[in-house]
Amino acid sequence: MRSKRFINSEQRKEGKNMKIVVMFVVLLAAVVFIGSAMAVPQGKTVEFTGGGNGKVVFDGKVHADKGLKCNDCHTKVFQMKKGSKITMADMNAGKNCGTCHNGEKAFKSGDPANCAKCHKK
Ligand code: HEC
Ligand code: HEC
Ligand code: HEC
Repeated sequence: MRSKRFINSEQRKEGKNMKIVVMFVVLLAAVVFIGSAMAVPQGKTVEFTGGGNGKVVFDGKVHADKGLKCNDCHTKVFQMKKGSKITMADMNAGKNCGTCHNGEKAFKSGDPANCAKCHKK
């Protein structure tokens, strides 16, 4: 009888330890996640030379401030590294930046009034 109770309390202790381990892992994952979510968009910009029409600066903060999340763009619209080949023809056909800059989700890429919103001379 006595030894059985002993085992039970050992098991209870083990269960408690397990809970602490699980909590620790969850906390660690949260810290890592928040760290990576904040590290990239704040002040992060990607520059494009602009094909002679003035350079284009893509600002991660401007986009994050509009409530956009990483997976709104990565990786279905853009890879997570520099180097996409972007043309206005693709954009005006609703690809790359044009998935949003189509006059619905954001200002339209093909409208002459908007060229200078992206291209800075
Ligand atoms: C509105 C669209 C958009 C959103 C939202 C977005 N990104 Fe990006 N990201 C881009 C574009 C565009 C590039 C450049 C891609 C290219 O040149 O091919 C890029 C590039 C990157 C790169 C590579 C940068 C480099 O210097 O090589 C990383 C890393 C990245 N994004 C991470 C993130 C993370 C993390 C988030 C969310 C916190 C995020 N992005 C949200 C559009 C976006
Ligand atoms: C939403 C932002 C955005 C708007 C609006 C925009 N562009 Fe662009 N444009 C880009 C990006 C990004 C590139 C790729 C630049 C690079 O790869 O260096 C580009 C490339 C170009 C190029 C060179 C490549 C090609 O496809 O010919 C020309 C020319 C150009 N844009 C003209 C224009 C004109 C004219 C307008 C207005 C009618 C305009 N752009 C509006 C972002 C924009
Ligand atoms: C997932 C949607 C999305 C994608 C993809 C996207 N944008 Fe935007 N962008 C927005 C929204 C929303 C705004 C806010 C302006 C508006 O509502 O018209 C914005 C604003 C901008 C602005 C205005 C910044 C300012 O000074 O106010 C620039 C420049 C810009 N985007 C460039 C780009 C370029 C270049 C690309 C492609 C490399 C791109 N965006 C891709 C959604 C997007």
